[in-house]
Amino acid sequence: MADNSITITDNRTGKTYQIPVENGAINAMALRGIKVDDTDFGLMSYDPGYKNTASTKSTITFIDGEKGILRYRGYPIDQLAKSASFLETAYLILFGELPNQKELEQWEYDINHHTIVHKNIEKFVSGFRYDAHPMGMFVSTLGALSTFYPEAKKVHDPENRALQIKRLISKTITVAAFIYRHSKGMHYIYPRNDLGYAANFLNMMFRMTEDQAMPDPVLVRAMDVLFTLHADHEQNCSTTAMRVIGSSEADPYVAAAGAAAALYGPLHGGANEQVLRMLREIGSVKAIPEYVKRVKSGEIRLMGFGHRVYKNYDPRAKIIKEIADQVFEVVGKNPLIDVAIELERIALEDDYFVSRKLYPNVDFYSGIIYQAMGLPVDIFPVLFAIGRMPGWLSQWQENVSDNEQKIARPRQLYLGSDERQFVPVAKRG
Ligand code: CMC
Repeated sequence: MADNSITITDNRTGKTYQIPVENGAINAMALRGIKVDDTDFGLMSYDPGYKNTASTKSTITFIDGEKGILRYRGYPIDQLAKSASFLETAYLILFGELPNQKELEQWEYDINHHTIVHKNIEKFVSGFRYDAHPMGMFVSTLGALSTFYPEAKKVHDPENRALQIKRLISKTITVAAFIYRHSKGMHYIYPRNDLGYAANFLNMMFRMTEDQAMPDPVLVRAMDVLFTLHADHEQNCSTTAMRVIGSSEADPYVAAAGAAAALYGPLHGGANEQVLRMLREIGSVKAIPEYVKRVKSGEIRLMGFGHRVYKNYDPRAKIIKEIADQVFEVVGKNPLIDVAIELERIALEDDYFVSRKLYPNVDFYSGIIYQAMGLPVDIFPVLFAIGRMPGWLSQWQENVSDNEQKIARPRQLYLGSDERQFVPVAKRG
């Protein structure tokens, strides 16, 4: 039987080292023993952007980027999107198994009964300028929640963690809706205990008058599925931020604020917003070839295309494309969909995109649906964050419960000046 190890020969010294291979990886610390002499610090690996570094063992989400596979706890994303609710999926992600009927009812009850936020959170949100970006308000308000729950600092107490997890999943929709209404100059609508998660959220967002009808069930279901599709995505930029901040034993509110900050960037969760701006800028099908030319010259990126992990069609984008049609039947077709479909067709036939394995990602179509539902472009990343909250929390919990984990603290390759002597300012010339 093959030996599960690798042998490295250090050509600097002629020495060989046998390093065990476990789960398809070597332990980076094993490299440290490879030294030129006793004074040498030992070998490190250099990996900007962590392209080939596993920072953790995890049992939550599996992705095969080459094959376009995404599974939460072993269940394929298309099955969950089709048959499970977002809260059912959140339970699965957090606890490892799908809930039975009783567990699900209790979970839904618990999430529903933590949606109220302290009155001061209303004041806090009201303090932002009318044109503040929703994601800036969202990041800050998540951080502010930390001050209301000082006991959340007990991150090694499982019961306490469970309570904060419920609070964060519940209050996220209330905070997001308050932010939206503040930016529109509308009064806040309080959560209702008789509504499901997505319906409660849409009601808090859009209700104008007491007698207004409930949100359309098709839109509620679409919102719920969109949350499910975003619920986790293993060690992406924001999840890594969550784990890194959590590794210092900071409470989950500030860790989630940090994760949301990472999500805000246009290369991550901010991409859905950028896709819409891009489609508007292109404006019509006939302007696409010229735009693609600019992308190929390196002047701009095609937003909503490409992914660090998926080198095949993003399975989430496929599902989103399907729900777009259902939403359009209720609210009317978003004219930008024609531009998006043609842009995708052209890109998928073009050697520039084919050779780089650039396919539409989750953000390519999600913004078109959000916009058709009447949501303003700059709130899109907040919607991504609502969906991702169970994933962040599950990954955070896995990290703080993992005995192999330590405070995150990467190494660097120092290439700066060697020691030099201080020169007073008058003598610096
Ligand atoms: N448009 C044009 N060219 C691209 C794009 C794009 N969207 N993405 C990558 N490339 C090119 C890039 O220029 C490079 O070409 P070359 O080899 O000639 O230099 C090659 O493809 C590899 O790109 P990379 O930047 O090394 O790839 P990465 O894995 O570091 O980046 C990415 C992944 C998602 C940041 C990138 O594809 C991107 O910027 N996409 C647009 C933003 C976007 O849609 N982000 C949402 C990601 S999915 C949701 C989420 O997880 O947040």
